[in-house]
This record gives sequence, structure tokens and C-alpha cells, in this order.
Amino acid sequence: MTLEVPVAREQVGLIAGDGRSPLYVPRSWVAIAELGQIFVGRQDELDRIDAAMRHPGLSGAALIGAGGAGKSRLLAEVVRRADEGHHLVVRACACQATSSVPFGAFAQYLPAALMDTAFNGNALRMAADALIGQSGGRDLLLVIDDAHLLDEASVALAFQMARHREAFVLTASRSGEGIPDPIADLCTSGLAEWIEVRPFTRAEVGEVLASTLGGPAEGALVQRCWEATGGNAFLLRELTTAMLETGALTLAEGVRRGGERLPVTSRLAGLVDKRLTGLTPECRRALELLAFGDSVSVDVLAGLVSRAAVETVEARGIVKVERLGGRDRARLAYPLYGDVLRARAPRLRARRCREELAGAVEAAAPGPGDLLKVAAWRLENGERPSAVAVAAATRDAWSRMDLPLSGQLAGCAVEAGKGVEVAEPLGYGLMFAGRSGDAEARLAHLGRPARERDRARLTSVRAFNLAFGLDNVSEAWLLLRTGLDDLTGGEPRAELRALQALLHVFGGRCHAAVVLAEQVMADVPGDSRARCVAEVARGVALAFLRRPEESFQALGEARELSLRWQGELPWLEIFIELGWVHACLLTGRFLEAQAQAAAGYDRAVARQFPFAIAWFCLLRALVARARGEVREELHRCREGVAIARHHGDRGLLAVLLAQLAQGLALAGEVKAARRALAEADGLAQRSLWLLQPWIELARSWVAAAGDSPDAPAIAEKGAALAREFGAVGMEALALHDVARMGAPQHVLARLRELAGQAGDGAVPLYAAHVEAAAAGDGDGLAASSAELERLGSPLLAAEAAAEQANCHRAAGDLAAASAAAARALRLARSSGARTPALSALERPRLTRREHQIAELAAKGLSSKEISAHFVLSVRTVENHLQRAYRKLGIGDRAELGALLGLFQPAHDDDHSPTM
Ligand SMILES: Nc1ncnc2c1ncn2[C@@H]1O[C@H](COP(=O)(O)OP(=O)(O)O)[C@@H](O)[C@H]1O
Ligand SMILES: [Mg+2]
Repeated sequence: MTLEVPVAREQVGLIAGDGRSPLYVPRSWVAIAELGQIFVGRQDELDRIDAAMRHPGLSGAALIGAGGAGKSRLLAEVVRRADEGHHLVVRACACQATSSVPFGAFAQYLPAALMDTAFNGNALRMAADALIGQSGGRDLLLVIDDAHLLDEASVALAFQMARHREAFVLTASRSGEGIPDPIADLCTSGLAEWIEVRPFTRAEVGEVLASTLGGPAEGALVQRCWEATGGNAFLLRELTTAMLETGALTLAEGVRRGGERLPVTSRLAGLVDKRLTGLTPECRRALELLAFGDSVSVDVLAGLVSRAAVETVEARGIVKVERLGGRDRARLAYPLYGDVLRARAPRLRARRCREELAGAVEAAAPGPGDLLKVAAWRLENGERPSAVAVAAATRDAWSRMDLPLSGQLAGCAVEAGKGVEVAEPLGYGLMFAGRSGDAEARLAHLGRPARERDRARLTSVRAFNLAFGLDNVSEAWLLLRTGLDDLTGGEPRAELRALQALLHVFGGRCHAAVVLAEQVMADVPGDSRARCVAEVARGVALAFLRRPEESFQALGEARELSLRWQGELPWLEIFIELGWVHACLLTGRFLEAQAQAAAGYDRAVARQFPFAIAWFCLLRALVARARGEVREELHRCREGVAIARHHGDRGLLAVLLAQLAQGLALAGEVKAARRALAEADGLAQRSLWLLQPWIELARSWVAAAGDSPDAPAIAEKGAALAREFGAVGMEALALHDVARMGAPQHVLARLRELAGQAGDGAVPLYAAHVEAAAAGDGDGLAASSAELERLGSPLLAAEAAAEQANCHRAAGDLAAASAAAARALRLARSSGARTPALSALERPRLTRREHQIAELAAKGLSSKEISAHFVLSVRTVENHLQRAYRKLGIGDRAELGALLGLFQPAHDDDHSPTM
């Protein structure tokens, strides 16, 4: 199965042609050609410019920002948006060539005679009058890009016109180049606004990528581009071009993914070279060292070049100096430069850089993470650092989540006979790199460590990998049991028992997990690793057992404890947040669940930890499911599936695929949904059995989308499974789904019972909703709809409103029916979902003529005007209007506007259906 295709060949685009001879080229060419037209973000800046232009006391705005920040593009956008009726836009053309010609920048707007006269006060006045003369009474907007290149006469002209409020002067200048004094004076004297053009945020980088690449890019790629370019618009454009040109991108599940490393094309290299022109060889050397050294202490760097060189590159904005761990460290402001410099450095030069860095860092007092780098540089240079150093560096790299490096170092440590010491980085590292089979083979090879602690850790990493990596749960249990027989100490045994508790909970045995976890916690000290793992298992179990307060408390404590152990067990965070988000979801705290899942995703992306990213994609998808945001659900599932497939996480992949199927079913893509579900079913997933109810529910939604009468029964199976787990919240959610599929009577009794057990949150609300639906109680449904909206689920609220509309209509209350139907449609609009309740909504249907007339009435036309428009009698128009009001359940024209967009006209004019 080839699921990843190069983006460049993804599609063929039309670049030019007159219809008879179209020119088709790879899609990437079109994307590159369109890069310059894209405009993203900058709302804040645009608003401020707009406000300044309207402000009576202001006559200018100065944009300032780094080279390539996006100043020129922003100016172009202001010009594009300017209203020609109100403004005459005069665009100065400032460049090196005109910078010594008086009025050179405004030459095209000024009379030829003026260009020949000497520059004096008289000429200045004439020039201003000439511009005013062309304005035809409109306001003048002088737009000056690269203001530092403006000739003196033009500066004076702009300054004077701004001072006398004869024009609004909008300038752009590069920070560091200095803006002309008079323009700066305008700002300091309060006549002009000073507006900084900031680097793009990560979200904006994501938007740029999405619009240039023709669809969403995975979070990890967005993060890398954002980091590499420092959010610089120009560098981002060039990097995108390089990615498109080299075919470095692949398309998986409709998500654009990056390759192992960012591409360096000769064009990109040339551009970086150009940016570095004028630097002394010493400055360049400083940059090269940073390219290999990443973040280097300023003292070390100054020792290798000179302090003056470091100061120069910092002043030029190419290097950033930050205080980290109590000392100043330098790094490249745009890490993309580092990629270019490294790619271009000849081998021997690269080697010498690493050698010098390693020597200098070792000689100085190394800071945190420095020794790890030294080991990495030495390895890269083909040297053999000592076994102890490698083992220490491996653990360090591991705790920093540098997966590739820790993997490489762990391999060396094993060769040097230090395998036992690096068992965890080795095992987890391989597992998280999608190589669980290798991990098991290499761990099994390490033999039986002499020390109990080492034995416990080796056993636990192996068992974890067997269960969650290879989905071989029985083997994992066997290993843990024999491992326990081989241990006597309380703490080493507790480590394995805590892991057993975790396997219990993910196996769906929530009660057993709580019991075992509590035993472990009673046996070991408060801050031990075993206690932390046990606390996580307990917290997750409590979340599913619907004991939310205890769960939040347990997980909160686990969060605190995990700060200490996160470096050794990076999966702790994932399971903690999995529990937390479920505790929120199952008690109806949808908005909190959303915030938690999104924050976790951001952290995972910032750490470039694919395993965690895929997990957080699932959590975000589950939140989106609860809120009924189908597009978001699909997007998150696709990204997660692409990662999990690439990394071979079978259990997680199965849940993600099922969730994808659920989203596709709601989006009406039944075939694709069935395919995804079949694939999910093909992957065994005993290690994540706890999440199986989600898969069963997905199955029921796929069935419902295919109009299968079995859908409610399948959802009931999901509920039964959750009940088996003791997962009351999940059971209630599943039963609610059964009701949503049209079988409320079936589940009412059990939901009532569950609602009686649980005080607040979602369960009583689900029960009340189902109660009202079963009884056909319109007012009850209205109340449920309002509550569900408040909970943060527009889709569920829309469904209740749709049911309410049908109840009212059945009772003959057309006005109430119409209002509820309108509410249902409005709420469902953002969701994009098709569900049985929404399909069953009978909408008031206007005839085409009624709709046309109502539309004009909504725009404020009188009946007489409408009658003239359609050549009808006024009486006929009024009759049509009255019928429309009756169908929509409204009293007059004022309410028409909001409703009309929601109700499309019927196709058949003659047989107007009644409500
Ligand atoms: N808001 C934006 N959205 C998308 N692309 C942008 C935006 N601003 C700038 N760019 C891209 O970055 C490039 C450099 O921007 P530019 O405005 O020329 O920078 P500056 O004038 O600050 O040096 C532009 O050619 C454009 O492709
Ligand atoms: Mg520019």
C-alpha cells in the first residue's frame, strides 16, 4: 500500500492557456508561482493602520521590522484595500538609484519642470500643490517603502505634508537601517503611529503553509518551519519554495508532511549568502560554529573567534543572545541559516568546527546539556568517547527527548558494554521511533542485570514495549510476573506492579487498576517513580469510573510527580492527559477538555515527539467529536493516522482510524468511513482495550450513515462494553448515542439509573434529553438544547432543537416549530455533521416565488416596490408574504432576514409543501 505520495506529483495544475492550448504543470509550480500573492494574518497591524488613518490627530504611520518580515507585502495590502473614492494613493518609489535625485521617489507624479529646478522651499510647495491637485478632493495617502532609501527632497515633502495634514504618510523601514529623522520626528511628536511588523506566529506559519501547499500541514512540519525561519515571512517563502522544488513533502491522509530534514537548494543557499555579505571572515566563522554548535556559551564562542565578532553578528540581528542556565548563550536568529551553512561546509571544515567546539566546551565549565553535545560531536568526528561518557550522554539526550541522538548514543553504549545502563533510552527510543520489534530484540539480548533496580527497569521497558509497541499483552504480563519472582526489594517490585496497574486500566479493568495502584502507593515513598506510575494508572481508571474529582486530584498529583520522572518516562504525560481529557469529556466539561488537549498537542509538537503528537491528535479528535465539530475531528484524525501509520503504532492507529471513520460517517462519506473502519478492525488492539468502546461507537455511526437499522444495537454494544469496564461515563455517552440514532425508549431506564448515581455534569443532562425525546416533550427538548449548547456542544444542541421543532410541528405550533428549526440549522451549520436527528428535521419550505419576495422584503423593499419588480399586484405580493410568515412562524418583516438564509426554497413551484 503506497499511502504517502510526493506532494509535487500530487496533482496537475493549470498555469496558463487560452482554453484551446492549456499549459499543465506540476501542482508545485503553480504553488511557487502563487507564493507572492498569499496574504496571511496581520489583522492587528491592518486595524492599527486603519485606525490611524481615521484618527483626526494622526497623519502618518511608520512600519518597522526586520528584513523580510513582510513590510512591503503589508503596504501592498493596505493599497489594495484603499477605497479609490476616498483616497488617492501615491506610491513613492525609493531605491538606491533615485536616492540622490531630488524628488526622485515621486518623479512619476510631479511635473517635469519641477524636476529640473533646484530643491528649495518654493519647489517643495509646488510639489505638494502638484500632488494635491491630482487628488480631486480625495485624501492623499503617500506610501513609502524602504524609507531609508528616500532622497532628501522627498523626505522633506512627505514630512511637510504630514505636518500640515495635507497627506497621510505611511512608511516602511527595516529595523537597524534607521528611518529618516523627520519621519522619526513625526512619531516622537505624536503625529504618526509606530507599528512593528512582527515575525509570524506558529499559527500564522501554519496558515501560510496551508495556503501555499494546498491543504493543511502536519503540526510537526509547521513547528519546524516556524523554528527554522524564526517566523520571518521571506525565509518562510524561500523554504516553502525549496520544499516544493525538491519534492521534500509527502501527502499522507490529505496531510502534508515534511522529510527527515529541511531541504537546502542552491537558491536558498544563495539567498542566505546574500544576507551575509559584508561580514568579516571572523564573523562568518562565528556563524559557522553556531551552525554546528546550536546554542553555545558566549564566552566559549568569543574564545574561538573574538568578542568583537560576536558583538557584530548580534548587532546585525543574525545571532541572538539569551540568558540560559545563568549564562549568556548565543544561537542563530534564523536556524535555517544553520542548515544552509552546515550543508555547504566542506567535510574537513565541519570536522574542525566540531573539534574546536568540543575542546573549548570541555575546557570551559560545561553548562547543562554541553557534555551531551561534546559526545555527539566526537562521535560524529569518528572518535570513541569513553563508555561512561556515552552512557551519561545517552541518558541526557533521552531526558531532553532528542530521540535520534539518544538512539545513536544508546547504540554506542551497548557496544561499549553499557547496555543495561541505557536500557530505557534504548528500548523506548526504538519504540518511539516505530521500531518496537528491534527494541524487543535488543532488550532481550541484554541478559539478566545483576542489580535489582536495573532488572526492574529492563523488565518494565520491555513489558511496556511488548504491550503498547507490539500489542502483545499476554507476553507483557508473563514477563512482569516472572520479573516479580526474580525481585525481592520493595521498590523494584513496586515499579513492576505499578506497570501492572497501568496494563489493568488499559485492559479495561478499571477497578482492579485502582486497587493495585493504591497498594503500590501505600508501599513506596511519596516521590518514587513507582508511585508516579501508580498514580497515573489510578487517575486514568478513576476518570473512566466516573469519579472525576478523585481523578483530577490523582492526575494533578501525577503531573507534579511526573516533572521529576518525565525525563525517564516521557509517556507519563500522554497518559496523564489522556485521563484528564476523558475525565472532562465524560463529565461534560467539553471546553476544558478542548483547552487541555490543544495545550498538550502544542507541547508535543514543540518537543517534536511524534508518538505524543499522534496521541494528542486522538484526544483533540475525541473532543471535536463531543462538540460535533466534524471538520476539526477529521483533520486531527488524519494527522494522527499519518503519524501513527508511519511510526507503526498499531493500537493507537486502530483507535484513530475508527475515529476517522466516525467523522467520515458524520460528513456523509460512507464508503471512505467503511474502509477506515475495516482497516481499524484489521489491527488487533488488546493493549488499548479501554478505548474499544470508542471503536464500537464509531462502528454504530458508520452503520447509521449507511441507514442500517442495526446502528442503535451496535451502539448498545459499545455501552455494554463500557459497563463491563465500570466506565459509567462512557456507558452514558454510548446510551445517549443510541438515543440519537432514534431509539430513546431503549435506553431510558438505564440512563435514568445512571443519572441517579451521578450528581452533576453530562449524565443527568443526557438522561433529561432522552427523557424529553422519548416523551415528545417540546419544552423539555428546548431546555436540553440550551443546556447542551452551554456545555459546549453545538451539534448536540442542534439535534435537540431539531427534535423540538418536530414535536412543536406535530402539535400544530408552527411558530415554535419554525423558531426551533431555525435554531437547529444555525447551530448545525458550523458543525458540518449529518446525523439522524438533523436529517429528520422537517424544514419549513418556501416556494421559489415566496422566497424571492421574502428576500426583497427582508432587504427593506415595500410591497409596492416588490410588486413593480415582479410585475404582480400588490395584493398577490402580500398574500405570498403572509404565507411565508406563516410557514416560518414569524409575525413581520423584521424577523425575515435572519431566517431566510437558513431555509432554501422548494424546487417545485407548483406543489408548495405545507409545514
Ligand atoms: N502577510 C503575509 N502573508 C503571506 N506571505 C507574506 C506575508 N508577508 C510577507 N510575505 C511573503 O514574504 C516575502 C517577503 O515579504 P516582504 O514584504 O517583501 O518583506 P519586507 O518588505 O519586510 O522585507 C513576500 O514576498 C511574501 O511572499
Ligand atoms: Mg520590503
